[in-house]
This record gives sequence, structure tokens and C-alpha cells, in this order.
Amino acid sequence: MSATRAPAVQARQLVKTYPGGVTALDGLDVTVESGTVFGLLGPNGAGKSTTVKILTTLARPDSGSAVVAGHDVLRHPDRVRRAIGVVAQNSGADPVATGRDNLRLQGRLYGVKGAALDRRVDELLERFALTDAARRPVKGYSGGMRRRLDVALGLVHRPQVLFLDEPTTGLDPEARGAMWDEIGRLAGEEGLTILLTTHYLEEADRLAERVAIVDRGRIVVTGAPEALKGELRGDAVHVRVRGELGDGGRALLQGALGGLPGVHEVVCEGRTVSVRAQDGAEAVPVLLGALERAGVAVVGATVARPSLDDVYLRYTGRRYAEAEAGGDGGAAGPLVLAGGAR
Ligand SMILES: Nc1ncnc2c1ncn2[C@@H]1O[C@H](COP(=O)(O)OP(=O)(O)OP(=O)(O)O)[C@@H](O)[C@H]1O
Ligand SMILES: [Mg+2]
Repeated sequence: MSATRAPAVQARQLVKTYPGGVTALDGLDVTVESGTVFGLLGPNGAGKSTTVKILTTLARPDSGSAVVAGHDVLRHPDRVRRAIGVVAQNSGADPVATGRDNLRLQGRLYGVKGAALDRRVDELLERFALTDAARRPVKGYSGGMRRRLDVALGLVHRPQVLFLDEPTTGLDPEARGAMWDEIGRLAGEEGLTILLTTHYLEEADRLAERVAIVDRGRIVVTGAPEALKGELRGDAVHVRVRGELGDGGRALLQGALGGLPGVHEVVCEGRTVSVRAQDGAEAVPVLLGALERAGVAVVGATVARPSLDDVYLRYTGRRYAEAEAGGDGGAAGPLVLAGGAR
């Protein structure tokens, strides 16, 4: 149906260096088809917010180009702004004003007035379960209520494309689940395109028809979550070992595990040895035997079907959780011991 429509977002080779020399974007390409939900997934500092800022005309790239809702962000930023809704990483609501007044003000900024504005505000308050809180100042709202108001603010003027920069970061699991339901419902609405950024693999998996993994200012892989996971044949086996693996230990394991039958893509990082195996259950005893012979004490092992975490590991060589914890420090990367099937 949307095959013949132009993409809602098309960015090419975006480069952005901040004062002080931080290269936030290093040739980032992204295309979002109209009417779809697209997830930009990456750890702290990957460049997600910088991408959103450029696409929403709040920042200029050093080079590269972007067209959003049919308008060039550099040549016609005003047109882009009218066509999009933006929910920034940090709330833009006025804490002293009520929820209703925030929505009314936002509507007026976009030229929505009179009865149309009243109707739209009531509709959004209802949809985001804020009707009862509408007359209270926003500073008394819970985190979940605030975030729902932020999304409502982005929708007052009925944008074609909605940008959600980390819509659920900092929310408790219940509020996060409620927000997922609401975003899912929005996405079902005719014509609305959503580009969301997230730290959460699960969020991207659940909401987005396509995801792009951003790592150090570049897209390392794009695709439908199922297709990306499907590319990884077999099971992921993760073995936790007792001590931190030094260079020597890793080299030892390379010899021990690299040649095992049915085992490929061996990655050692910190205290975890991860491999991909045609049959995880069969591989575990083989792996444990090899580790024991290598003198490595094992704490535990898990077998899992491929997840987006495994996709991340495969394309960046780092575990997602460790990239999150480690930020963008330049420490020595993990050692990929055996190249796997491509
Ligand atoms: N205004 C700024 N001045 C200097 N450096 C900046 C600025 N904004 C971002 N950066 C740097 O650019 C890189 C990318 O930042 P960005 O905010 O785009 O990442 P992000 O993926 O949104 O991260 P997070 O998940 O933490 O929100 C980081 O190294 C960050 O420190
Ligand atoms: Mg960010």
C-alpha cells in the first residue's frame, strides 16, 4: 500500500561533530517508510538524539542531507516543523501550567484554535488517560503521566511524522507497558509515521517494524527485528566464567573452542563466553568439557533463541549491556575469536 509513497524520512551521510571534537555522527544513513514505526536502537552516546535533532531541524549537520515529510531540513526547516511532532528526550512541558493548558498553548503555537483546539485537547487527554489530571499542574504528575503528556503535546497539530526520543527511559515497567500500548495504537492510525529512539532492545523488538542499530555515529545494521534475528542461525549459548578473562585466557579459549564441531562466532568479553551453536543443548556439554580442559572455572550457562542483543553483539562485537554500562570509552574491544557464518 505504501510501496509507492516517498519515504517519510530519508537521511544520507549525516556527519556532526560537536565543539570539543566529539564526532556524534559519522556518516549516518536512515530511511523510514511512510506509515511505519522505525526504531533507532543504541547505547548511551551512540548518536540517537543528535540524529533526531537534525531531522527535526534543531541542529544542523556538518555535512549530509535529510528530507522529512517531503521537505529538506536545511532548505525548508519551517515546512518540516509544521509536518512533524517532536517528543524530546527531556520533557518540554511547563511544570507550573496544567496538562490542559500545556496542550492548549502547544496547539496555539501551531495555529490550532477555537472549537477545533478544544476538541483536539479533550481527545488527547482522553486517549492518554489524563482527563482526570487535566486541571492539575504538571509538576504534580508521575513520570508516566508526564511522558504521556509529552507525547500528547507532540500530536496536537496532527503531524505526519512523530519523533519520540526515548519515550520510556526512566519509567517503571508498568508505565512503560502502558506507553508501549499507546504508541502501538498511534502507529495503527492512518498515515502516522513514527521514528523512536530507544535503549531497550525489547522496546524496539515490540514496537518497530524496522530497527536500525546505531553504534558510534553510524548505522551498523537495519532490518525487521524478525529478519535480523532470523539471520542468526542456531542458538546463542552464553557461559559465565569465574574470573575475568585476560588476553592469555582468551587466546587459550580460541584454541579450545574455535575448532569445536557445530560451534561458531566465539566471543569472549569480561566474564562471558558467547558462542552460536546449531543446537544449543547439545553444545553446552561440549563447551563445558572444553572449558574444563582449558582450566577455566564455569559459573553457569544459558541457551537462548536469537535476540536483538545477539544481533547487536554480532554487528558491533560488544554485548549490548556492556556497551550501555561502558559508554563510549576507547578501551580495548572484545576479542572475536572465530569468525562465523555471514
Ligand atoms: N551539545 C553537545 N556538545 C558536545 N557534545 C555533545 C553534545 N550533544 C551530544 N554530544 C556528544 O555526542 C555524542 C552523541 O550524543 P547523543 O546525545 O546523540 O547520543 P544518544 O545516542 O542520544 O545518547 P543517550 O542514549 O545517552 O541519549 C556523545 O558522545 C555526546 O557526548
Ligand atoms: Mg539521547
